[in-house]
Amino acid sequence: MKYGHFDDARKEYVIHTPQTPYPWINYLGNEKFFGLISNTGGGYAFYRDARLRRLTRYRYNNIPVDNGGRYFYVYDEGDYWTPGWMPVKKELDAYECRHGLGYTSITGERHGVKVNQLAFVPLGYNGEVHQVTVTNTSDQVKRIKLFSFVEFCLWNAYDDMTNFQRNLNTGEVEIQDSVIYHKTEYRERRNHYAFFSVNRPIDGFDTDRESFLGLYNGLDTPQVVTSGEPSNSVASGWSPVASHCLELTLQPGEQTSLNFVLGYVENEEADKWESPGIINKAPALAMIEQFATEEDVERSLAELKAYWERLLSTYAVASHDEKLNRMVNIWNPYQCMVTFNMSRSASYFESGIGRGMGFRDSNQDLLGFVHQVPERARERILDIASTQFESGGAYHQYQPLTKKGNHEVGGGFNDDPLWLIVGTAAYIKETGDFAILDEQVPFDCNPDNTATLFEHLKRSFYHVIENLGPHGLPLIGRADWNDCLNLNCFSNIPDEPYQTTQNIEGRTAESVFIAGLFVYTGPDFIELCRRKGLTEEAAEAQAHVDTMRAVTLEHGFDGEWFLRAYDHYGQKIGSQENEEGQIFIEPQGFCVMAGIGVKEGLAEKALNAVQDRLETPYGIVLQNPPYSKYYLNLGEISSYPPGYKENAGIFCHNNPWIMMAETVLGRGDRAFELYSKIAPAYLEDISDVHRTEPYVYAQMIAGKDAVRQGEAKNSWLTGTAAWNFVAITQSILGIQPDYDGLRVDPCIPADWTDFTVTRVFRGDTYVIRVSNPQQISKGIASIQLDGTAIDGNVLPVIGDGGTHQVEVVLGVKVALV
Ligand code: GLC
Ligand code: GLC
Repeated sequence: MKYGHFDDARKEYVIHTPQTPYPWINYLGNEKFFGLISNTGGGYAFYRDARLRRLTRYRYNNIPVDNGGRYFYVYDEGDYWTPGWMPVKKELDAYECRHGLGYTSITGERHGVKVNQLAFVPLGYNGEVHQVTVTNTSDQVKRIKLFSFVEFCLWNAYDDMTNFQRNLNTGEVEIQDSVIYHKTEYRERRNHYAFFSVNRPIDGFDTDRESFLGLYNGLDTPQVVTSGEPSNSVASGWSPVASHCLELTLQPGEQTSLNFVLGYVENEEADKWESPGIINKAPALAMIEQFATEEDVERSLAELKAYWERLLSTYAVASHDEKLNRMVNIWNPYQCMVTFNMSRSASYFESGIGRGMGFRDSNQDLLGFVHQVPERARERILDIASTQFESGGAYHQYQPLTKKGNHEVGGGFNDDPLWLIVGTAAYIKETGDFAILDEQVPFDCNPDNTATLFEHLKRSFYHVIENLGPHGLPLIGRADWNDCLNLNCFSNIPDEPYQTTQNIEGRTAESVFIAGLFVYTGPDFIELCRRKGLTEEAAEAQAHVDTMRAVTLEHGFDGEWFLRAYDHYGQKIGSQENEEGQIFIEPQGFCVMAGIGVKEGLAEKALNAVQDRLETPYGIVLQNPPYSKYYLNLGEISSYPPGYKENAGIFCHNNPWIMMAETVLGRGDRAFELYSKIAPAYLEDISDVHRTEPYVYAQMIAGKDAVRQGEAKNSWLTGTAAWNFVAITQSILGIQPDYDGLRVDPCIPADWTDFTVTRVFRGDTYVIRVSNPQQISKGIASIQLDGTAIDGNVLPVIGDGGTHQVEVVLGVKVALV
């Protein structure tokens, strides 16, 4: 069942009912100021750090779900309602929500009044603009009152929901003209405040929550709204809110627009005050001035749309499959950008207070983003590398605001360092910017202890070599990619965090996944050594990669598939010998992507086993059979009920590894089948089962052993976005950035006849038309670049900033050109 439709021309998803199977959200903001907004207007805003600079309050796990946002109540002669349906839930005569790229437009209509709320964060602007357009669709004069509403968060979102003995005393506001300023803690160490303004004189206001709502009322029945009378309350302590009251008289057919701005201001210490106790409002007023008129909003929204057009034009496919086109051209790169910005911090499943930026996560997110804004990828790589330790190990997470490693979580996740090589290599392949390798980068954020980025990569590489276990496979540490495979944890005390508790100082538990990752990314490190003229280092590294490959074949293969790990006791995990958890997806993906066992025929066996044992109609489960009970030696993975999360859920992040592995074997039909099983646009018709947004990936879909098979959770912030983008754009459609050019190597379903990819690469535009006259999956018969046949399959960097026509014919190569 569907709850909306894709409007590809406008790059929007249009939702037809407020009662979607779960709140379907969107993100506003591009660099510093961000907002989350659902299809009913729920959500919140923050500046840079969702924990430390939260502007508005949001209660997770609320009843009902998604209650709290930037709301506009309509009071219409005794009747009152909200255009997004929530929170008042009065029946609407019409409703529509359009989630676009960086903006959301919600329209509701009731009893002859239509209200549209258009929300976005303008480029380079530290605030949200909410343009509210009210139309009288009746044939009578309408006299309505519009009440805006936001509830402020006292900045630190964690304290805000715990430290009430303090919080209920600190709240402070100022009201001047049509602007409500939230200045809690500004009197002491904060130099920032928030404001909520409207571009028109107001007829009243409220800033004290209790006065606005009534102590025993919810957001569905605020007493100010139900009575139609603002109380002009001035908050002192308790919970500051901002509500404007505007009286509007509209003739039949008349329309009027109001610009609300929810903004953030930071003042210099010396410029904090206008007069004692009165905040310096000049920067806020300047921001408000920028959105004085309707044209200001129009222009700014057009700039935002142009910005997205530009970003998305870097990679565009035209194929026979409209779902594929919309995933590749719109929604997948959009999600990649959001994921890159947010890491795993703020979604409707991540509370914005728990997790900072992940070392491994951010490096993987880069893969889906680097072609869009490479400068930001560069900055991110250097930030991430700065949290690395001298040993080559790394903090697992860092805080975006301070860019410092997170001590509470610490390090010891032994796959982390290698992702820095993966991320850096992807950046250099996209840009050709080898100079990044010479940047001086701190260890542990200490500016007095730095080394080149290249040296950091080297430490990453050798961190693996210096931490090998009894079989010569990499030690797993606290966990590898699978955060929940905690082989040194041995926790039997409730509340001990699985990932940071290490009850055994283990140097036995080994990871076949890390071995695969090492062999996969090793060649990049080797190539970078060569490019730096370090031939001996390259040779030495090559020897380590060769050894790892051999060791993986010797100790990491279990007869039919790759093993997952060895536990603390040296027992196999992910083996036919196990009763449960006999086969895992991750090593099958990464070992085959690394080419391990391909020529021996073992890779094919492994992928066939994945199909037999792990595949379901909704995607590939993480392992099988699921763990039916808690295993002390395995940790969190066995804590989940069967079929959920790492315990045999469909963990979408690793499905594309299998797609990519299938393309290594040339099995394009399989690769694409797996792609379309989890790509959200293909799941739109089963939105009632899938439940999360049909335009973005979710981290997890309940697996075949789960009670609620096929139901997704944790949409938006997941490595799934980046990896699926890589799988489809590079491995399947086959346009791969490489050090010296664009490699073309598609692996597609045999019945595809043709497709075209337009790719902007290092300033040139390549229009690559691929045709498939022999109906095969992989193999190139010929390539012509601007009418001339080229040798091999790498399109050179031309560098004239022009557009170049490329004709690729798939087929069995007859003769070398
Ligand atoms: C989550 C984490 C990621 C991890 C994955 C598997 O998505 O963010 O770092 O690799 O779970 O456990
Ligand atoms: C939980 C999740 C896992 C995630 C981890 C991050 O263990 O199950 O997916 O990676 O938390 O800390």
